[in-house]
Amino acid sequence: MANDSNDLLVTRDLKKYFPLRRGLNPFSRAERRFVKAVDGVSISIPRGKTVAIVGESGCGKTTLARTVAQLITPTSGQILLDGRDMLTLGRKEVYKNVQIVFQDPDSSLDPRKTIADTVGEPVRGLIGGNRRSVEERVMRSLAAVGLSEEQANRIPKQLSGGQRQRVAIARAISPSPKLLILDEPTSALDASVQAQILRLLIELQNQFGLSYMLITHNISVAQYLSDVVAVMYAGHLVEYGPTKVVMARPRHPYTITLMNAAPIANPWKRNLLNIEIKGEVASAINPPTGCRFNPRCLYAEGVCQKVDPPLEEVAPGHLVACHFKEKTVSVRIDGRTPPAIEAPQGS
Ligand SMILES: Nc1ncnc2c1ncn2[C@@H]1O[C@H](COP(=O)(O)OP(=O)(O)OP(=O)(O)O)[C@@H](O)[C@H]1O
Ligand code: SF4
Ligand SMILES: [Mg+2]
Repeated sequence: MANDSNDLLVTRDLKKYFPLRRGLNPFSRAERRFVKAVDGVSISIPRGKTVAIVGESGCGKTTLARTVAQLITPTSGQILLDGRDMLTLGRKEVYKNVQIVFQDPDSSLDPRKTIADTVGEPVRGLIGGNRRSVEERVMRSLAAVGLSEEQANRIPKQLSGGQRQRVAIARAISPSPKLLILDEPTSALDASVQAQILRLLIELQNQFGLSYMLITHNISVAQYLSDVVAVMYAGHLVEYGPTKVVMARPRHPYTITLMNAAPIANPWKRNLLNIEIKGEVASAINPPTGCRFNPRCLYAEGVCQKVDPPLEEVAPGHLVACHFKEKTVSVRIDGRTPPAIEAPQGS
């Protein structure tokens, strides 16, 4: 993938393998086995833009997010932030620049602390300053997400689910990061609240020039929010390119299956969690040889079981990992564009 000075974050051949526990005999000579959750992922996130990561459950999206956020250490590969090797930066420097928002706001909110205290935590830990300057920053962050001074003195259970997700976002933006990693930021919320949070994320991006790494099962959310989409399958990146192009003219057989299967009666319900694809999801411990998608692929031929196809450019910025990508040149997806953001109906 070309490296552009406009890229805020770049991963190169990033891998995260989780060792499997050995059996009862710790001295066993049996080969050590791993869950290859992220296996050689290279992506770039341009400044002020959104890259969506999509793929079935278990394909490695959250592991990629946690590795990029330095919550876990990569097995190998590089992460560059503003051109600097992130693994050589101190954690404080990383967390000042990269913050993560999870699906469940309660995971990042202490039920006993006031909202102001919770939002102030990263400010005190990463930015510092006297009480007044911390308070000012907290109030600015809360105002940016639409919460009032009065709400700042409440505890989480005195707020609604949507308001709690606003607090999680305020907490994440409080140290003025450059990159927000959003792991399913709206999927735990009611439909109307989802719409408000999506709109808020767009406003914050415009206001602060934030870059987003957005993880979502919802194709319409990816379509609505992202500039670039990265499709993952069994720890690998299989397709990567401008969202409009990948959604309307996907070239990888896996992406084509996802886009075709996503129900379109209500475009906001185009959810990968509802999709059943023939065959088993590839094992992350013992993936199929060659192309990992081969046991499920309608286009597979002999070579697919032997040779893992590299990601190759099929158009500027559009990359596909498939031996037979010329077979999909004429594919067009009749997915409806999601309606205006006022009305996502469930996910
Ligand atoms: N700490 C861990 N130890 C061992 N295996 C793990 C660990 N975390 C994740 N995995 C495994 O890594 C693979 C990828 O998991 P991950 O949570 O990244 O998937 P995901 O794409 O985020 O899935 P979902 O859409 O369900 O959230 C899975 O096989 C999972 O079981
Ligand atoms: S390389 Fe072969 S198995 Fe893999 S997606 Fe392409 S055609 Fe299918
Ligand atoms: Mg996940």
